[in-house]
This record gives sequence, C-alpha cells and structure tokens, in this order.
Amino acid sequence: MGSLAFVRLAKEQFLCSPRYLLLIMQERLQKIIARAGVASRRRAEELIRQGLVSVNGQTVTELGSKADAERDRITVSGKVLRPAGKRIHILLNKPVGYVSTVSDPEGRLTVASLLKKSGIKERVYPVGRLDYHSSGLILMTNDGDLANLLLSRASAIPRTYHVKLEARPAHDDLRKLESGILLDGRKTAPAVIRPLGKLAESEKPWYEITLVEGRYHQVRRMFERIHCPVLKLKRARIAFLTDDGLAPGQFRHLTPAEVSRLKNWRSKQPLIPTV
Ligand code: URA
Repeated sequence: MGSLAFVRLAKEQFLCSPRYLLLIMQERLQKIIARAGVASRRRAEELIRQGLVSVNGQTVTELGSKADAERDRITVSGKVLRPAGKRIHILLNKPVGYVSTVSDPEGRLTVASLLKKSGIKERVYPVGRLDYHSSGLILMTNDGDLANLLLSRASAIPRTYHVKLEARPAHDDLRKLESGILLDGRKTAPAVIRPLGKLAESEKPWYEITLVEGRYHQVRRMFERIHCPVLKLKRARIAFLTDDGLAPGQFRHLTPAEVSRLKNWRSKQPLIPTV
C-alpha cells in the first residue's frame, strides 16, 4: 500500500473508532455551562478564567477546553452541573446518498439533517459508519456509554448486512470469509454468511453476512477479496434491532428495554440473535 493510501485508511479507521466518537461528543465548556442555565456564555468564560470550573476534579482555566456533558463530572464554583439534556437513542434507516456524519465539508446530505428536519433538537451522533452508497440501520445517540459499548471490539455486537454481489461466490471462498481473512494485517473475526432468496435463479445473488466488528469498508473489502464486488449494501440488523416498519429516511426512538438489552449485551450470545 502506498503511503497516501495508508494515511487515508488510518484516517478512515480512526473515524470509525470509539475514540473519535467520544471526541466529537465533546463541547466547549462555556457552552455546556450556559445550556445548563448556570450562567450566560460570557459569564461562563469568566468563571473558567477565574479557575472556578473543574472537569473530573481538574481545574480548567483554558477557554477552548472541551468536555462531554453526559460523561464528565463538571463543577462550577464547587457545585456539580447536572447534565443538560436527557439521553436519546434513535434507530435510523439511512437512505443511499447520505453521509453518516453530522456535517459534511463537501456539502452532501447528512444523517443528522434527516433528524433535524423531523424536529430532533438534541445533538446526537451516528455510532459507527455506513458508506455514502450503503443504506440501512444506524444508531444515533448522545449516550457516550452506549456508543462506546457498541463500537468496542469486546462487546461483539453483531451487525447483519444484506449484499447484492456482482458474481456468484464459490462455496470455499465464502467459508474462508467466515473463518477470517487478513485485512490490514489483522484477521477478521468469525462471520456468518447465508444466501438470501432463490440462489439458483439469480446471476447477481443476494447474501446476508453477520459481523461482530466494524472495520472500514469491511463488507465491501471482504467480498472484493474473493472477486465478488458488492453492488448494493444494506445494514438490516444491529443485534436484535431490525428495520421493521422503518422505510429509508425514517427513524424511531429505542425503548428503555431495548437500550437496557443493548447495554447488557454479552459477547457470548449467538451471532444471529433472536429478534
Ligand atoms: N461495510 C462496508 O463495506 N460498508 C458499509 O457501509 C458498512 C459495512
């Protein structure tokens, strides 16, 4: 791999990581303080300068400092700031042609714009990524704990994708993908692949693949490796969450029971969970 391609890949991998998500969930301290109703933004800046604000026990005096209102313990004049907003968890069915970020320097449509249009005012972030040309389920939340859990390799939360392939894969090649191949010098975790629909009739067949990790362009790169490029890709399931009743562009809030089921996910559960 050339050095430019390597830098691009490293950047894309960072954008898929829990570390990145936790970073973008941070906001300037004065904004958090003002939103909590403790002081105006200007006054909050003064409080910071005067050394009256602390984050997780550390006094902060620098004006550009950031924190996560949901996760960090912020105090102003010794009093703990209560988190300003409630935690929200949204399951969105992303249409093709949207980027899974909150803003896009190229001016393309974003998943955040879909929520904003429907009156969601809270700052929520997509957990993980779906390519511009992919569709399907994506979780949007301001809950850093859940986001972290979903993105951590240890939680092994399965995601199921439906893919349309350019060509019929050989049986042995599919088994290779299932048991793991080297991508970026690291073996992929075990996967489950099943045909969808009537294989015999289709030259460009659909398959279902379930993964417990989310590396950059992982599904597309895995099928490219066996010379069966992906023509269409849709994320149909995240753990037990399906797109039932959610047309592309639509979303719903998770129920408290669903949030708790996700938070208590144990990696030893079967790869294809009961819905
Ligand atoms: N894997 C991919 O290649 N693309 C996606 O959008 C999601 C998983």
